[in-house]
Parts: sequence; structure tokens; C-alpha cells
Amino acid sequence: MKHVISASDFTLGWVLEMIERSTGHIERFRSGIPMGHRSEKVTVVMGEASTRTAGSFKAAARLVGCDWDFVASSGESSLTKGEALGASARMWAGQGAAVLAIRTAIEGGSRWLAEAMEMGSYRTAIINAGDGANQHVSQALLDLVTIKLKKGRLENLRIGFLGDLRFSRTVHSLVQALRLFPGIELVLVSSPQVKLSEWYYNGMPATVSDSIEALAGCDIVYVTRVQEKRFGGDRVAYERVRGLYSVGEDTLRLIGPEALIMHPLPINSTDREIDPSVWMHPQVIIDFQAEMGVPTRMALIEEALSNTGPFSFPELPKPVIKVVSSGSAEEALNRKRRNNIIFTPIDCGTVIDHLPAGMGAKVRSIIRSRVKLDPGAKVLAEDLVPLDPSRPVKDIIRLENNFLPDAIIAMVAALVPGVTINEIRDGEITKKKVESVGHITVGRCPNPDCITNNDVQAVRFPKFVVVSDSGDRTLQCHYCERRFSTHEVLQ
Ligand code: CP
Repeated sequence: MKHVISASDFTLGWVLEMIERSTGHIERFRSGIPMGHRSEKVTVVMGEASTRTAGSFKAAARLVGCDWDFVASSGESSLTKGEALGASARMWAGQGAAVLAIRTAIEGGSRWLAEAMEMGSYRTAIINAGDGANQHVSQALLDLVTIKLKKGRLENLRIGFLGDLRFSRTVHSLVQALRLFPGIELVLVSSPQVKLSEWYYNGMPATVSDSIEALAGCDIVYVTRVQEKRFGGDRVAYERVRGLYSVGEDTLRLIGPEALIMHPLPINSTDREIDPSVWMHPQVIIDFQAEMGVPTRMALIEEALSNTGPFSFPELPKPVIKVVSSGSAEEALNRKRRNNIIFTPIDCGTVIDHLPAGMGAKVRSIIRSRVKLDPGAKVLAEDLVPLDPSRPVKDIIRLENNFLPDAIIAMVAALVPGVTINEIRDGEITKKKVESVGHITVGRCPNPDCITNNDVQAVRFPKFVVVSDSGDRTLQCHYCERRFSTHEVLQ
């Protein structure tokens, strides 16, 4: 894999290979002796503070024989002068970064950059070193290495997660990676305000609780801190959930002598989600876990360096639009008249039919905001009140002399399941229905921290994948990976 962005892209084979390669690097890491010098450079950019990830990417780059650069973007880069992330990344690529290991406060930043690198024909591989509250892929891999080495297996484990599971990118990535292994059972302990969104673990056996007692019988307990910055300035909400759990001697007794405690670190010294009295306890393996960061990142850098050619991202699911009928426009109009449905026909253009009453004006305004329509064309949205009172009132839109691209038809269908698109040209009418929306490239991500709301270029390229096609459809932002209803995205 060239760009390592999200655990949702992981496959079992790739993860197993990375674990094996990481483990193979432990001896060299402990020796501190670099491999032979290589010409490539690794650029490490930290848009949020870091001790482990930054330090271990630098150490890993040195040990695999590369040069490295370090940019603390909060103070040192022109991002603070308002430069777009993609524009900065093109500079780092142009300055010779073969690998850009980048942490951004903005979610989806790494995926956006990886796509930008390929579009601009740069050879630079992007490794996501943490993007806001979304993903932390290198941490998930080093966590898997730790579990494999300490437990001897990655399957048939009962794994507890404790703390802030909602905003913890390490939890998101690790749970998604664990999904690849059979026999994993999750115990998710948090206060309700910061519980893990269900879609991360849908289909996996899971117990959800706010009681630390639920962790009894776990093989591993993965603890996370509550992070103030993820609460968007809502101090009251933050204070309500911090400091509720602290792993100490009692917890170790509860989980038993075989169980292990992990934490991605840092531990909050005030909240003490792991009490300092047990930091050195042999069941608390946090230092070993952090140590695995270097060999794991050595394997990741090598992986990126061995895949520097052009890369094609897997295609997002496309809309499936089917022609359900075609024939004479005149005959179709006569059928409508026989059924007492009266409306003004058009000779050429699109009629969007089967919109619920009251939706016409909204759909029309969304289309107008996204399609450059023929300026002379009439674009009417109207209620159709049938003469037969047993038939429901519905809205239709008539777009004279305009035909909609598939992306816009998919957008309309995302908003209104069951909509019919009629295209009239040269006396023929073609009726189309959208079988599957696939993905849409319109709308606005409601997540203020998404790259598409924070980068002057990314804002022009929203993408949402339909992850639930029933009822009010659920859309997942392709970049920040958060999920929303169609109405939230297409307001
Ligand atoms: N685990 C982790 O990401 O630590 P840092 O924030 O110190 O890099």
C-alpha cells in the first residue's frame, strides 16, 4: 500500500505482512545501527503536538537509512499564514519528500493530500500520522504488533476499551483493524456522551457499558484519555466526562493476572486514567507498546518507499441509473391526460417526477446551486393536484432545454428515493430511475473539522459514499469518515 490513510483500507494480508516486517525490525531498532544509506527523504509534519509519533518516525527514518526533515506546522510552516494544506504538501514533495508522514488537526487531511499527490503526479507517499479525531493508522499497527508479541495471537481475544471512545482516533483505527481478525469480542466502557459510534463495530460481538466492572474477563484493556480539544470549546461537556475512570490496583484485580493494560499515551497527569501507582506494573505494557512505534514505522516507511509509482485509488461506488422505459412523448402525454393528470408539457428537457409534495422548490434550488442551467430555460417546480382525489398530490420539476449529469441525478435520488427522471428530446421520452446512488460529489460535510471545510481547494471536491440506502439515507464523508443523513449533507 503506497498511501497509508485509514484502517478502513486495511486488508488482513497486508496487516499480517506489516506485523511480520515490524517484528523483524525490532532487533535493529534495539541495536540503534542504521541500515545502509538511502537517497530518499522522509518529511515528518506535525500539525498537532506529538512526542511518540514524531520521534519514532524520525528514528525510524534514520534506522532505515533515510534523511529526514521535521516540520512542526503549528509554528514553523506557512500553514499558519493561511496556506492551503495541499499547497504546502506540494512544496514538501517538491523539496524531495519521498514519504510525508503528516499529522493534521483537520480530519481527512491525509486522504485529501494522497489524492492531491496522485493528481499532481508527485511520487510522494502519504502516511497519516493522526488526523484530528478520525484515524491514527501507525498507532493501530503498533498496537497490533504489541498484542501479537505479548499475547501470541490476534484472534479469539476479548478486548476492552475504556475512556473517550468517541473522539479517540487510536480507538477508531484499532477497532477497525481488529475487525479483520476472527473471534474478537469488544467491551466498550465509556460515559454515554463519549461512547463509540456503532458503525465502527457493527457486526462484531460487543458489550457497551459505563461500568468499569464490565471489563472483567478481558485479555486486554485499552485505555484512552479524554482530550479537551475535541470538545470544540465546550468546557462543561469536557468537565462532565473527564476523570471518571482510573485504572489502578482494583482494576488489575478485576481483570485478573493474565490481562494486559495498554494506552496509546500520553496519560493525562490530572485525570490519571491509569494511576501512576501501576505504571510500572508488569501487566501495564505502555512502555513496550510505545517502543514498538519505531520498528512499526520502519516497516511503514519501507513499505511506502517500495511503492513510489503512480497509484490508483479504489473507485468509489458509482450511481446505477437504469432506463426503465422509452417511447413517444406524445403517447406518454395522452396517457397522463387519460388519467386526469394535467400539466404543461415541454418539448425538450427534463421532468423530475414523483417528488413528495413540498419538495419541488427545495430540489430545484439545490439543482440551481450546482448546475449551470441554460439561462433562457424555464425551471418550474410545481405541485400537481390530481383531478382524481384518490391520487396523492406530488411535486414535479420541469427543466426546459436542460439534461442533468449523472452526478446530479444521483444527488436528487439521494435526497428523494424513488424519484423518476424523464428526458424528452426529438419527440421521445426516456424514463430513468436510480437503482443505487453509490456516491455523490455534491453537498457539504457538516463536520467543521473536515478538510472539505478547511482547505480552499478541498472545499470544491466534496465526496460522500452512501452507506445505507434505506429510509433517510446515511452518507459517509470520503475524507473525514463521519456519517450524516442526506438532509444534513444536502441542506
Ligand atoms: N500515541 C501518540 O500518538 O502519541 P503522540 O501524540 O505523543 O504522538
